[in-house]
Amino acid sequence: MRPGRFITFEGIDGAGKSSHLQTVAEHLRRRGGELVITREPGGTPLAEQLREIVLHSAMDALTEALLVFAARRDHIEQVIAPALARGASVLCDRFTDATFAYQGGGRGFDSAVLAQLEIWVQQGLQPDLTLWFDLPATVAAGRRRAVRAPDRFERQDEAFFERVSAGYRQRAAASPQRFVRVDAQRSPDEVAEQIKGALEARGL
Ligand code: TYD
Repeated sequence: MRPGRFITFEGIDGAGKSSHLQTVAEHLRRRGGELVITREPGGTPLAEQLREIVLHSAMDALTEALLVFAARRDHIEQVIAPALARGASVLCDRFTDATFAYQGGGRGFDSAVLAQLEIWVQQGLQPDLTLWFDLPATVAAGRRRAVRAPDRFERQDEAFFERVSAGYRQRAAASPQRFVRVDAQRSPDEVAEQIKGALEARGL
């Protein structure tokens, strides 16, 4: 395995993954070494522009998938691959599992096409560890009500998020070594403990 690790954070909107990214960052900082914190869609000037479009303009599922993969390609080329090559660890708020969950599960787009795009864009690059914040869609909907200006995804109904969750479940079942399921219904402290346990079990 590379000296730096590539760790991704996944889950339906409202599951709390972004705040726990900080838990992991603090944990890894104590161990030393360079840390790059980034997100998808986004992470480069071009990919952030594509993020704005994907989150706020109406489009069909194939267009959505092509845009998130275009953003991802730029992000990998400009940020992720160079960081891993120089030995840094990369923490990324969402990555390709989100495409399988949202465009594949949520929108019902053909996952065989997504799998092809994944091969073209990533050329074998995969996260070393994916923390999947799993939360029932009803509970997440309650948490999302606090969000003031929901984007195109956050406005979707509960059935959409049930399908997104099913998409994550499938991806986790296909890569059980890479995925760690975090029970996001627990208290923030308990979730943080779960995460630390998962990191330590992997020598991190
Ligand atoms: P999110 O990561 O939840 O950011 P914030 O915390 O600022 O709301 O928002 C990104 C949205 O983009 C989220 O609703 C899921 C969606 N998304 C996709 O549909 N496909 C993808 O491949 C990615 C990376 C994200």
